[in-house]
Parts: sequence; structure tokens; C-alpha cells
Amino acid sequence: MEDLIQQAAKDLASCKEAAALTGAGISVESNIPPFRGKGGIWEKFDPMEYAHIDAFMNDPAKVWNALLKDMKAIIDQAKPNAGHLGLARLETLGKLKTVITQNVDGLHQLAGNTDVIEFHGNFAWHFCIACKGRIRTEEMTLSEIPPRCACGGIYRPDCVFFGEMIPAQALWRSRQAAAACDLMLVIGTSAVVQPAALMPVIAKEAGAKVIEINPEPTPLTGEISDYLIQGKAGKTLSAILAELERLLQRP
Ligand code: APR
Repeated sequence: MEDLIQQAAKDLASCKEAAALTGAGISVESNIPPFRGKGGIWEKFDPMEYAHIDAFMNDPAKVWNALLKDMKAIIDQAKPNAGHLGLARLETLGKLKTVITQNVDGLHQLAGNTDVIEFHGNFAWHFCIACKGRIRTEEMTLSEIPPRCACGGIYRPDCVFFGEMIPAQALWRSRQAAAACDLMLVIGTSAVVQPAALMPVIAKEAGAKVIEINPEPTPLTGEISDYLIQGKAGKTLSAILAELERLLQRP
């Protein structure tokens, strides 16, 4: 793996504008469980029964009790880890422009990245399904479930449920960023959910180098990715940054 770390540092040193696509795996080291694989949320809950918009509208209390209450508790405590901080450092070094994230935890912004496209929205905000009034999640007490707006309507997270469209602006900007980059880091995603998993394909078609960081191979591995660095995001990105900083210092 050592030589792939060096290869990634060299590729980043010579790239003009990198982009990143991240998934739940980059937040695992911030104690936020992934959806699939070991300890995945969908191992416990059927996403169609708990994360589909129809399921929420049919029984908001059930979805709040089973899924959203715990999500709020976990995300309220979460802090950026070395993986998030590594991507923020890549932006400071002028190498990384845009992070396209499938995550709703807001940790990339907390780590310092300034151009973050939230493909699936952000759990930091909720809005009332009746009057559309918005509230910051951290201000919600959850004294009643489901939480209600002053108008009596029920609050829902400002995230994309299954069965909903990806926000048009997020989709359009992500496609643009993928087509414009000459290197894409694909970190902590199982690459099974579309259209997010299309972004590395667009980057590849545009001639970018695609580098995966994941303990496991994905459908992109060997097809779209130039190489997979099999490892955890935090440790791997820390090692790549250390090598990149060394290369950039060299006269
Ligand atoms: N570092 C890097 N990758 C990791 C780590 C880690 N420490 N731990 C796990 N992974 C990898 C897993 O091997 C897996 O490939 O992260 C990936 C997590 O996959 P998913 O849980 O499917 O997350 P994601 O790809 O983001 O899911 C996409 O599906 O359910 C929807 O809306 C949800 O945004 C989510 C979308």
C-alpha cells in the first residue's frame, strides 16, 4: 500500500484541480455508522420502510422514533476526523476545489472545506411539511415525537429521502465539478447509489485520474478507478498528505 500512497501523493502534486466524492465511510471514524457493510444502518432497518419519503409521510412518528432521533443524537456529537481534515488541507494547498458529498453530517464544512456540494442535503436543518418553516436541528428539543412546528405541522430533515429528486443545483454543479477536475478522490462510498456513483464515471470520461480510498473494493474498482488504496480514510489521507507536503517542499 505504501507505493500507492506515494503514487497518490505524486498524482496530487501534479494535478491542477482535484475533486472528491465522499460517502458515509469517511465519517465512520467520527462515530457515524455507514449504511451498508459491517455495522451498516441498513443491516438493521429496511431503507424502503424507514428512509423512503412515502414511509415518512405515512408514519412520521415511526421514522422519527426508529431512525431520525438516533441520527440527531449521533450527528450532534460528531466531529471531523483526519479524513475530513485531510481534504480541508488539500483545499488549503490549492489542490482540491470541490467536495461532492453524499453525507448529511456537515463535517466537511466543519473541517474547513469551502466548496461542498451536498448531494443528499444536510441534517443540520429541518423544515415543516405544512408551512415550510425552517429550524436548525441543534435547536430542536424532541420533547414530542414527531417534532412539530408552531403551526402544528411536522418537521422533517432537509435531506433527500429515497423516492425524492436530488436537488437540481447539487446535481448540475456536481456534474460540472466532475467534468472539470483532472483528478477525483472517491472516498468511503460503496458506489451503489445513483446518480452520485455516476460522478467518477463523468470524471473518467473527461480524462481525470480516479483514485479510490476504501477498505473494500466497489463496482468502480478495476472499471473506473485507476487504483484503490485499501484502507481507512483517516489514516490513508494523513499518509498521502504527509508525502504530498514533502513533495511540495522539494525545491
Ligand atoms: N474509511 C473509508 N471507507 C470506509 C470506512 C473508513 N473508515 N469504513 C467503511 N468504509 C466504506 C465501506 O467499505 C463502504 O464501501 O465506506 C462505504 C460506505 O458505504 P455506504 O454505507 O453504502 O455509504 P454511501 O456509499 O455513502 O451510501 C450512499 O446510500 O443509503 C443511501 O443516502 C444514503 O448517502 C447514502 C447513499
